[in-house]
Amino acid sequence: MNLTGRHFLKLKDYTPEEILYLVDLAQRLKKEKKQGIPHAHLTGKNIALIFEKTSTRTRCAFEVAAHDLGMHATYLDPSASQIGKKESIRDTARVLGRMFDGIEYRGYGQDIVEELAKYASVPVWNGLTNEFHPTQMLADLLTIRERFGRLKGIKLVYMGDARYNMGNSLMVVCAKLGMHFVACTSKNYFPEKELTEYCRKMAEESGATITLSEDVHASAAGADVIYTDVWVSMGEPEEVWEARIRELLPYQVNRAVMEQAGEQAIFMHCLPAYHDLNTSVGRSISEKFGLDEIEVTDEVFESSQSVVFDEAENRMHTIKAVMLATLGENVD
Ligand code: CP
Ligand code: NVA
Repeated sequence: MNLTGRHFLKLKDYTPEEILYLVDLAQRLKKEKKQGIPHAHLTGKNIALIFEKTSTRTRCAFEVAAHDLGMHATYLDPSASQIGKKESIRDTARVLGRMFDGIEYRGYGQDIVEELAKYASVPVWNGLTNEFHPTQMLADLLTIRERFGRLKGIKLVYMGDARYNMGNSLMVVCAKLGMHFVACTSKNYFPEKELTEYCRKMAEESGATITLSEDVHASAAGADVIYTDVWVSMGEPEEVWEARIRELLPYQVNRAVMEQAGEQAIFMHCLPAYHDLNTSVGRSISEKFGLDEIEVTDEVFESSQSVVFDEAENRMHTIKAVMLATLGENVD
């Protein structure tokens, strides 16, 4: 497998074999890290981290992974660069490509990261766009495989806003890897038709199934993974909260959903999550709408079925794998 020089923009661009190769590589790097085996295979290289939206996990994962690989990382925060305001993406790409060996980008439209990649002349990694969150997918796959020992045949039920980056990305990855994906939500939040059709086509080859359903009871039955995400994503206006709560509350992940899924099921969330009143957003929603837990109850979030912190840790190991595979000359 040779991924040297490749961009990592969305998993639609990757074959099932390539995706599994990255998960395997991450598993190996995780083991090496735990055993204290150094793996500074990219010593002397430099990467740029562009964040037009905020982040805890993705930024830290890139920085720690870069350090472990021997690289230096330069962080450009949402306000500290000229990008998009005084300098076009195309010009920024050509400048950064002259200085850095790889560029991470988190921002708005997928078209922006695609344009950056087109002009950068070095690998570009998507750290989240409105449409896709591919590095999160690798962490989720590693986490699922650690729990179940396999990916093929796993039933993953995504509840919440399935039209956005997380719902889209999970549907793509399940379709590619022969997993059973269910978007369980109000029909207003189903993934868009074109992407669903693409995934159904992929599913024919992989043995996956793609289901869109408003029925919580039927969807959760026999699920291996119950997955949710925030109902209002970064960059969306505050005014949408009211409608989201009204339409998505029936799809909150709570004890009844987990009981329907069964004891073997795990709960996943890319994080950050609104499961209590320990955030300013959580408190403001509680004051305005009288809801103290939003997409997931605190009980489920804190339960033994919840693997959310394994997922968070795995962000680092999988992002490390992506950088090593795309920047390394020979990783095997
Ligand atoms: N899951 C995730 O991407 O987290 P951050 O927004 O903290 O990077
Ligand atoms: N859908 C969320 C994911 C955060 C990791 C957002 O885009 O804000």
